[in-house]
Amino acid sequence: MIVTKTIARTRQVIGQARTEGKTIGCVPTMGGLHEGHLALIRRCRDECDFAVVTVFVNPTQFAPTEDLESYPHTFEADRAACEKIGVDLIFAPADDQMYPGENLSWVNVEKISAHLCGGSRPHFFRGVCTVVAKLFNIIAPDIAYFGQKDAQQLAVIRRMVADLNFPVEIRSCPTVRESDGLALSSRNAYLDPDQRRQAVCLNQALQHAQQLVESGVTKSTDIIAAMKGIIDKQSLGRIDYISIVDNDLLQPIERIDRPAIIAVAVHFGSARLIDNIVIEPAVRKS
Ligand code: PAF
Repeated sequence: MIVTKTIARTRQVIGQARTEGKTIGCVPTMGGLHEGHLALIRRCRDECDFAVVTVFVNPTQFAPTEDLESYPHTFEADRAACEKIGVDLIFAPADDQMYPGENLSWVNVEKISAHLCGGSRPHFFRGVCTVVAKLFNIIAPDIAYFGQKDAQQLAVIRRMVADLNFPVEIRSCPTVRESDGLALSSRNAYLDPDQRRQAVCLNQALQHAQQLVESGVTKSTDIIAAMKGIIDKQSLGRIDYISIVDNDLLQPIERIDRPAIIAVAVHFGSARLIDNIVIEPAVRKS
C-alpha cells in the first residue's frame, strides 16, 4: 500500500494504475475509520482494480464554533485497517496541500443543501462539495463510495456530480450499526457512557416512525411529534432537527405519500449525532 501526501505524487501513482488499465475506486474520509467506513472500503476494493482512500479532515466544512480541533485523528490505526483490507493507496494531504492559500472558489449545491444539516450548519455542504470536487479532480475515480448514514451528503454529492458532469459513478452503502442500533460515527467517540446509552434513542425514534408509516400514519407532524416524545423521554439529548423530506430534492413534505427520508440530529454534549431512514410508502390500491 502506498501513502501519498502530495497531489503531484498522487496523480503520478494513479496515472500509472490507469496506464495499466485499472479501474479506480475512491472512498473519501476524514479518518477516524470505523466499521461503516471499512464496509465502504471493502466494497471499493471488491469492485475496483485500484482502491484509493482519502484521509483529510477538511477544515472548510467546519464552522469556527465546531469540533475541527477535537475531531479524531487516528492515522496509524486507519493506515493499518486499510492495509489489512488491501487498499492500494491512501492519500493523506496536509491542509496546505489542499488549500495552499485563501480559497476563493467554492462549489455550492442549492436547494438540496438547504434543510436538515444544511439548515443548522449553513457552511457545511459548501465545504464538503468543494473538497469532494477537488478530490475528484485529483484522483479522477471511476467510482466513489459514500455512506447512507449521511443521506443528505450523499444526495448533494450525487447532484453535484450530475450537474457538473463529473465522470464518476456514486455508489452508497447502508448504515452500519452497533448491536443496539446506534449508527456508527466517528463522533460517537465523544459520548460518555450515559450519553452512549441514551444515543440509541435516535434509532428507536426512527424505528417507531417506520412502524407508524407501516400502520398507515402519513402526516409528518404526527410522526415527528411521536419521535420527539421518544427522544425527550429516553435521553437528555438536545434535538437539532427531526424532519421528513422527499427523497429527491430533500424538501419538507406534509405527508409521506412518495419516497421520503426521515432524518434526525441530536446533540449529546459536544457530539452531534445524525441518523435517517428511507421510506418507500406502499402503493395503495383504490
Ligand atoms: O463524510 C465525510 O467524512 C466527509 O464529509 C467527506 C465526504 C470525506 C468530505 O470531507
